[in-house]
Amino acid sequence: MLRVGVLGCGAIGAWHARIVAERADAELAAVCDLKEEAALSAAFGAAVHTEPERFFAEAGLDAVIIATPEDAHVANAQAAAAAGCHMLVEKPVAIDAAGVDAIVAAAEASGLILMAGHVERFETGSAQLVDAVRQGVCGRLAGICARRQFAPGEAARFTGRSTTLRVLGVHDFDLVRWVHPAPVESVYADGVEGAIFERTGLHDHVFTTIRFADGVVASVESAWTLPRAYAEWPSPGGWSPAGNNRLDVFGADGFVSNDMGLRGQQLVAFDDAYGFRAAGIRHQPVVHGRVTGALAAEVEHFLACIRQEAKPIVGGPDARRAIALTDAAERSLATGRPVKPIAVV
Ligand SMILES: NC(=O)c1ccc[n+]([C@@H]2O[C@H](COP(=O)([O-])OP(=O)(O)OC[C@H]3O[C@@H](n4cnc5c(N)ncnc54)[C@H](O)[C@@H]3O)[C@@H](O)[C@H]2O)c1
Repeated sequence: MLRVGVLGCGAIGAWHARIVAERADAELAAVCDLKEEAALSAAFGAAVHTEPERFFAEAGLDAVIIATPEDAHVANAQAAAAAGCHMLVEKPVAIDAAGVDAIVAAAEASGLILMAGHVERFETGSAQLVDAVRQGVCGRLAGICARRQFAPGEAARFTGRSTTLRVLGVHDFDLVRWVHPAPVESVYADGVEGAIFERTGLHDHVFTTIRFADGVVASVESAWTLPRAYAEWPSPGGWSPAGNNRLDVFGADGFVSNDMGLRGQQLVAFDDAYGFRAAGIRHQPVVHGRVTGALAAEVEHFLACIRQEAKPIVGGPDARRAIALTDAAERSLATGRPVKPIAVV
């Protein structure tokens, strides 16, 4: 039984804790959050800590899932490495490439597994799309379009500590580089500072264009511009709201498209009490009382890598590429000019 801890027990950390607690081959040994009530609500019977130092010193962990805000990831990952814990670090793995490098160095120096929490790598449609592209269905690639759009309610949680591109864009920057692992020539981003920006400081809608050195162009949309009611309803309980997401890859011979968009939602409800709702059933659906889906598959992969001493599907170099694109897009947003990303290979 691997002894696993979760550090940071907020929105996503609580799901990680539940997933580990529900596994038969791992023990949720301890959880830690600076806020005791957050740690308590994600404990599932595990030891509860509010001080990361004591958590690492006392919990006897083999592995930790770090789900704190990204500006705390470097310090927490270094502490995890010092305690000899393999680590799964939520996206973005750090706020910049130097931070990712520091985490990679800490993990490597201690011979520990570092996995990046890029959950889309474990989403069925995304993974099968990449397989199809690799098999040559599209022929010579021309364009990639990625869209990730959610309702604005969640944006407020990231006020003052993150950005639309770090919260949403980084998922697609990783997906785009996974689809097309070629050098990037330039990144141009334009964003809307509308009603959501005024309330939260996060851009309402960002359009990022990525030009690869081989001429392929990718377009990434990252947005909070769905109506609030699309994601907020009290019934049915246990449903996570869906987003309006899609990934299309076009080439000379064909295209592959993973439509996770508004009109293609698989599970919907419509009633007089609350109107229309669509459930996001890709990432953490609860089935027969257990969390399944991409997040559970991500955790399962992490634990399997530890047991088999194997390299994760998505590790430090992937995290570095994704954050280098995020950083370039942020700089382009700030300057209004195309930017060459740092050392993206
Ligand atoms: N993979 C996904 O789909 C997904 C979804 C949501 C969030 N995330 C990522 O997960 C991370 C956390 O986001 P969230 O939405 O859960 O945020 P959140 O604010 O809901 O939770 C963060 C928690 O970390 C705690 N915390 C802060 N600093 C800490 C520290 N130094 N030590 C221990 N606890 C600390 C806070 O008290 C809070 O409870 C971010 O990097 C975010 O981008 C990923």
